[in-house]
Amino acid sequence: MIFTVAIDGPAAAGKGTIARAVAERFGFAHLDTGLLYRAVGAMGGDPVAAARALSASDLQRDGLRTLEAGQAASRVAVIPEVRAALVAFQRRFARAPGGAVLDGRDIGTVICPEAEVKLYVTASAEVRAHRRWLEVGGDAARVLAEVIERDARDMGRDDAPLKPAVDALVIDTSEMGADEAVARAIAAVEDRLPPVP
Ligand code: C5P
Repeated sequence: MIFTVAIDGPAAAGKGTIARAVAERFGFAHLDTGLLYRAVGAMGGDPVAAARALSASDLQRDGLRTLEAGQAASRVAVIPEVRAALVAFQRRFARAPGGAVLDGRDIGTVICPEAEVKLYVTASAEVRAHRRWLEVGGDAARVLAEVIERDARDMGRDDAPLKPAVDALVIDTSEMGADEAVARAIAAVEDRLPPVP
């Protein structure tokens, strides 16, 4: 069965939690596409060459989850040649037999517009910054400023800007617990799964 769940949204909205839970529930493969951009940002040197040479082992590097790595990722993510170099891998993953969940910024809009289920997971910048701060600590005002800066860069770029696909189900987790958000995502997938013969 080919079945893609595309999950987009800004940083710390809850995409990863939902993506992992959906993948586990239905036995689908999961790709956190932010890691591709984080790895390219962390490799240094020419980002286009880094994106073209990216291999699975680069996604295991230490330090890819830090705020700095997120900022570096969003800076290389505005470069069209970097994005183009990462498209084929993501499309293959999305349409591989067995079902796939991909979370990122442009999965339902650019990478896999034919996805069977598209979710746009969001929350207010304050709520997202608070969640991120609980994970990384440090200066809360700086964490909020970084979230706002990254949103602006991701939503404002010319190539594949962050926005909901027209047919995406929007899940706003500002005042919603993870269990409810996951339950809504699972219900959306169940609605679209082919009937068991
Ligand atoms: O999701 P995560 O915070 O790991 O993503 C890091 C950065 O990578 C994002 O801020 C965004 O600039 C970029 N990204 C992207 N397209 C994706 C996934 C991530 O541009 N599909």
